[in-house]
Amino acid sequence: MFIGMEALSTGLWRVRGVLSLRAGALYAVPMARTSHQLLTRYRQLAVSSAKAAGRLLTSFTGRTLTVTYKGAVNLVTEADRQAERLITERIRKSYPKHVIIGEEGGATPPEPSAVREPVWFVDPLDGTTNFAHGFPFYCVSIGVEIEGRIAVGVVYDPVRKELFSAIRGSGAFCNGRRLRVSSTEKLDQSLLVTGFAYNVRTSRRNNLGHFSQFSLRCRGVRRTGAAALDLCYVASGRFDGFWELHLCPWDTAAGSLIVEEAGGRMSGFDGGSYQIRVPELVASNGRIHDEMVGVLGLGDQIDPRQIESQMTGHATQERG
Ligand code: IPD
Ligand code: CA
Ligand code: CA
Repeated sequence: MFIGMEALSTGLWRVRGVLSLRAGALYAVPMARTSHQLLTRYRQLAVSSAKAAGRLLTSFTGRTLTVTYKGAVNLVTEADRQAERLITERIRKSYPKHVIIGEEGGATPPEPSAVREPVWFVDPLDGTTNFAHGFPFYCVSIGVEIEGRIAVGVVYDPVRKELFSAIRGSGAFCNGRRLRVSSTEKLDQSLLVTGFAYNVRTSRRNNLGHFSQFSLRCRGVRRTGAAALDLCYVASGRFDGFWELHLCPWDTAAGSLIVEEAGGRMSGFDGGSYQIRVPELVASNGRIHDEMVGVLGLGDQIDPRQIESQMTGHATQERG
């Protein structure tokens, strides 16, 4: 295996035993660990590739774009394709055996059990609709999965020149500054963010019901149009929580690690452990997480009775 060979040759591959107490007994749990030095190299490659792709994206500013459609409202531009080619070529050059799953490449993410090499999840342009309309909120996202866990995440916003990154176990950073999630305690005091998938016109689970339920229970819900940046903004404490349906691993691989490393919590809609191949997620500062999961449990239908009862509750509070 490529990482094994490289790590072994530099003496960096370690197999560690940790002790854990389960049901009153002591078990030795073997834990394979890719060295921090190797992860740092992956991070460096992700950073240099994301910055180069970011420069390419911003070079399109003011130019007329060739836009094609993957669906009624699902655009792809020449910038998406060129940025993906640039990133893919760089990864291939350094790590020819690694698996690359880019949004525009069309390959299905393999199950972790089916691959031994690291898997690079690449979104060359997250926020394509924003980009195509000249709305300056988009980024490049690159996450590296090793043995089924995201180990490295890099998200680069070329407009604000903000580089978000994390290596598992080593914290999350933005331009060298350590990131921490917010300390907001209650949903009622929170600023949330969400998004709507390209099937919003055709899917019954289109998030409009959740959107209305949350709008009545927090300070505000934003929709920025770039899921990877939404996650990084939760990690930075700019948002307190984020939820979305129908996302793909290239949208979330990097950002989910950045949230966790900033002290936040990731989960599925049911509050269970987060899996990047499952398209629904909740990300938060941890403190408001259970409240968010509770609201998602109300369902995604716009139910006038629930909305009415929530509004009546607020009216009573305001009168009292
Ligand atoms: C989209 C953005 C958006 C989210 C969509 C994604 P793209 O990615 O992240 O915020 O709501 O579900 O597909 O197409 O701009 O890379
Ligand atoms: Ca994209
Ligand atoms: Ca995306």
